Amino acid sequence: MRPAASVSLALLATASLLAIAQQPRTPKTQAAPKMLASPSGLPEGSGPVALTPPMGWNSWNYFAGKVTDQDIRNSADQIAASGMKDAGYIYVNIDDTWEGKRDETGVLHTNEKFPDMKALADYVHSKGLKIGIYSGPGNKTCAGYPASLGHEEQDAKLYAEWGIDYLKYDLCSFREDVMRTEAPDDKAAQMKMMHDAYAKMGKALHDAGRPIVYSFCQYGWDAVWEWAPSLGGNLWRTTGDIQANWHSIYSILSEQEGLEYYAGPGHWNDPDMLEVGNGKLSLAENRSHFSMWAMLSAPLLAGNDLPGMKPEIRDILTNRDVIAIDQDKLGKQASRVYSEGEVDVWVKNLSGGAMAIAVLNAGSDRYSTHPFHLSLAKLGLRGTHQGKDLWAGKTVELKDDMPVELAAHDILLVRIANPK
Ligand code: GLA
Repeated sequence: MRPAASVSLALLATASLLAIAQQPRTPKTQAAPKMLASPSGLPEGSGPVALTPPMGWNSWNYFAGKVTDQDIRNSADQIAASGMKDAGYIYVNIDDTWEGKRDETGVLHTNEKFPDMKALADYVHSKGLKIGIYSGPGNKTCAGYPASLGHEEQDAKLYAEWGIDYLKYDLCSFREDVMRTEAPDDKAAQMKMMHDAYAKMGKALHDAGRPIVYSFCQYGWDAVWEWAPSLGGNLWRTTGDIQANWHSIYSILSEQEGLEYYAGPGHWNDPDMLEVGNGKLSLAENRSHFSMWAMLSAPLLAGNDLPGMKPEIRDILTNRDVIAIDQDKLGKQASRVYSEGEVDVWVKNLSGGAMAIAVLNAGSDRYSTHPFHLSLAKLGLRGTHQGKDLWAGKTVELKDDMPVELAAHDILLVRIANPK
């Protein structure tokens, strides 16, 4: 169960999604997003962090408000022991509900679930991992705990002192506390306040002097992909909250179409954390979810119960070939090239001229004697191609117009080294 605050957030997020759906897509010829110059001369957010999409684990999707220090330690242990760390999962991120009270000097303390944050950070670091934390620009977080309004610099310094490596900054109560209170009828002024709030924490993190991945969580409002990189954002949520069911995963996936232009090294679209291994997702759904997040160059932040993880879920999360699609250094996000009925075909260009093709059966029951036929011509390919089927782990031959039979919500994911 998630806190009630998330329910109202879901409603707000739905409203924001409707608003997003009504916005015209940005033409691909538009100038690249502006970057803020940092003292090093590197664009802010494209420095040493997040040159490929961040990988790790976050507490929210499984533990929600119940997460404790011990859960974080156990999860870090499992990341190291399960092979996930070796596969690239590095960030162990504490989401909402770690916060206690501010003292008379304004310094924020942890609550009883997290007795000593510095000791926890040291523990996570001792495993060769990094640690993330959560706050927001309002008075309160989404779950109703103290957030950073008026204490941005103090909090950023505290994170740096603790040794925090990643901050998820969630808009939540800032809408009521500031935007709607101070400019009730002026949407443009509200949006400016939101930009300023993200810029303020960006500067505070920068001034605190520790490299910290800066993750915006404001559900894609106001075409965040256009302005987040210029404020130091390394990633930004593009939608409302994900849930562990196919409908949620597939609708979020579909909303990423057209955003591929904005992803690149140091700055990524974030279609939300993984639900692989959660809820009642079938193995096909888990595979497809993971494959498509890799195609999208999305952050791969697992959100499952790591100590209780089944081997088949570990095998999905640690599939090196699929992870390599996500972590490809070119940093291109996939495009949906075409759809026929319930089947979507996405293509991602990879470094060295390679290509990944994903054929996804989004339908819930189609499995017939008239399978989908894959058009290589529509993908700009000529003739037969050899590739690797990344889930079967075998060489596969792709021919134009070849039949592809996929079970409900399953995927064919192929890497072609030399597309012609
Ligand atoms: C919002 C975010 C979630 C999670 C919760 C925590 O709903 O979108 O990812 O961080 O807040 O309260």
